[in-house]
Amino acid sequence: MEIVAAADSDERGLTLLRVVSQLQRVIVYLHSFACDRGHLWSTQSADARRTPIMSDEQICKKDDDVSRYFTSPPAPLVKEICEELILSQENLKEVCDVLHEELNKGLGKDTNPEAPIKCFPTYVRELPNGKEKGRFLALDLGGTNFRVLLIQLGEECSMDSRIYAVPQPIMVGSGDGLFDHIADCLASFIKERDLGEELLPLGFTFSFPCKQEGLTKARLARWTKGFKCAGVEGRDVVELLKAAIARRGDVKIKICAVLNDTTGTLMSCAWKNHNCRIGLIVGTGTNACYMEKLEKVELWDGELDEPHQVIINTEWGAFGDNGCLDFIRTEYDNNIDRESINPGRQLYEKMISGMYMGEIARQVIIRLVAEGLLFGGQSSEILEEKGSFFTKYISEIESDKDGDYNNCRVILEELGLNSATDTDCANVRHVCECVSRRAAYLAASGVAVLLNRIQEESVTVAVDGSVYRFHPHFHNLMTEQISQLIKPGMKFSLMLSEDGSGRGAALVAAVASRSSR
Ligand code: GLC
Repeated sequence: MEIVAAADSDERGLTLLRVVSQLQRVIVYLHSFACDRGHLWSTQSADARRTPIMSDEQICKKDDDVSRYFTSPPAPLVKEICEELILSQENLKEVCDVLHEELNKGLGKDTNPEAPIKCFPTYVRELPNGKEKGRFLALDLGGTNFRVLLIQLGEECSMDSRIYAVPQPIMVGSGDGLFDHIADCLASFIKERDLGEELLPLGFTFSFPCKQEGLTKARLARWTKGFKCAGVEGRDVVELLKAAIARRGDVKIKICAVLNDTTGTLMSCAWKNHNCRIGLIVGTGTNACYMEKLEKVELWDGELDEPHQVIINTEWGAFGDNGCLDFIRTEYDNNIDRESINPGRQLYEKMISGMYMGEIARQVIIRLVAEGLLFGGQSSEILEEKGSFFTKYISEIESDKDGDYNNCRVILEELGLNSATDTDCANVRHVCECVSRRAAYLAASGVAVLLNRIQEESVTVAVDGSVYRFHPHFHNLMTEQISQLIKPGMKFSLMLSEDGSGRGAALVAAVASRSSR
């Protein structure tokens, strides 16, 4: 019908092509379905079974070095659809060049107001020397949980902490509601630990973009990561916390520092590792900070005395908010952004971090189902729900041994997809690999840019966050890609930083009291 109705021969040609392509899809699906049932390869090894669909060489044509993390053999049409998630070396180099420029804009006095990457100076200018000691309190707000910690630094180190949930209505309620909740949790911690008599120094890790006006003054620029409490943007969060504590009237505290989780991560690692110059988070959100020379920070309005350096909280999650990353963004990224609480904002973060990775994978999977390339074209109610494919699923699916789909099958069953074939599993895994690999490479590009700016011979990068911690290949993917993008002769290592938001906060408070003596 359609063919007959087509107005000219070009259009007829196109329609024919579409029909042929649909037919091909059906044939590929039926073919892989037969293979799955063991009709063709029941006696062969897992590796041999993969070959007929797609060789590893073909799957990994973009980058041989890390081919071993790209394990699953997708059907050709699945591979084709996922292709736009695969970034070439040229793409990544361009990302690096653009990011370098955007960081310069953020650091420049005249360019900063318009720059998406704000490059906030943190007022932390000294790194710990390893000799810090004392007892500290720390507050850590940055995700769906809030933590209160009691930290002992010195010969004997210890940490006692309690996690409190931040219920969704509080995340999007009033600012006073949020800070009252924080004050309640702090008060109950102090009471439980019987700390009422001591006036302990406190470090407040507040992991949102803040313009710092000193070590204890931080104005929230805007909410990220699903928070949207009214009346906080533009205000000093230390003042808001103090006001909430005053409203209770039963707790005494001495706030010595307010910091971002990236700063805490850097400080926590630098405590024992004196080469540490970069703090990176790949968790619910993504961001990085680094030690920059004062002469490069036109924005700096603090003292010009020694040391001539300051930690810059880049807030690189906002990279791309001016359209400069559009050349690599896909329809999935557009959908996620459109449906988010902060459209048009945090576009780099939305391609990398744990808050979004699972949803990107779900979007691709849904498309493959709609095209008849997965699960026989049958979706499930749960899979159709926004947010139902958790980011942790990606880590779990990629933790399955090559050719084995145990975790994948369990997850698909949780999603109401009970009759997935081995080929379905391989295809789902391929989607996960494309999404996580893209995230790792983009984060690696960011780190490479910072390493190239710092230009020290050997730099340790402190890293934390659930994606980096739990994804089975993220560390290796990042390491290998950074090596490709940094200037020759530089050495670096990525190091998991233990509890930056807690111990890091205590260290900033300790270093602050050392500097002010
Ligand atoms: C978001 C926040 C940033 C934080 C990061 C990681 O990008 O804006 O401040 O460091 O998430 O938690």
